[in-house]
Amino acid sequence: MNDKLWNEVDVYIGRLVEQEDALRAALVESAKAGLPPIHVSPAQGKLLMLLAQVQRARSILEIGTLGAYSTIWLARGLDPDGRLLTLEFNREYAHVARRNVARAGLGTVVDIRVGPATDTLRQLIRESHPPFDLIFIDADKASYADYLEASLQLSRTGTLIIADNVIRKGAIIDAQSTDANIRGMRRFFERLQNEPRISATAIQTVGSKGYDGFAIALVTSG
Ligand code: SAH
Ligand code: DHB
Ligand code: MG
Repeated sequence: MNDKLWNEVDVYIGRLVEQEDALRAALVESAKAGLPPIHVSPAQGKLLMLLAQVQRARSILEIGTLGAYSTIWLARGLDPDGRLLTLEFNREYAHVARRNVARAGLGTVVDIRVGPATDTLRQLIRESHPPFDLIFIDADKASYADYLEASLQLSRTGTLIIADNVIRKGAIIDAQSTDANIRGMRRFFERLQNEPRISATAIQTVGSKGYDGFAIALVTSG
């Protein structure tokens, strides 16, 4: 088993995914603008869209926009008249993301809020923002436990919380790790385990993004 084979299989799976032009363009324009290629894969993006559809999502929160590739996938899964709010602290990335979102015809559906996610989340909680139907956590890995905490405060019974990059080539099981990202991710897992309001799992993945994985958590009581 190797990365080359995983990548070839992801290309094969890509035939199922039917990626629209605006999504392809978002990747091309993000690369041109020098954004790091750390967006979800097409197969993962389609999963996000399907989960939004299953969830009948009318409001989605995304933490970590980059060039809005995952944003566009998620927004495509929204119910008619649904809205998506996405948080990004890098002004240049947000600028690229806005162009990509506009090209996808989602300018009035997607709201990109620039600033440290923790600040924006605190503001949303303070303003008693109505609960989101789906929350996608994909920003700095060290803060995932904090993002989960804030997400719970912006959730209702039935909210689906998805977190990307929770396996990190298996590094997640290293209890001695001094890496802030791994330590943060382990705090996130502990929080998931100890939170009675949540029912959760994590799935390991291989593919064009290497060896990683995602967590899915359902808020089972408010
Ligand atoms: N969801 C995107 C990828 C996001 S990459 C996709 O799959 O297409 C992670 C993003 O989180 C980066 O753009 C980074 O700038 C942003 N980020 C990192 N730390 C942040 C913070 N504290 N607040 C807000 N955004 C942050
Ligand atoms: C990184 C971040 C991501 O969201 C991702 O999917 C892959 C890598 C990173 O910061 O390295
Ligand atoms: Mg990610």
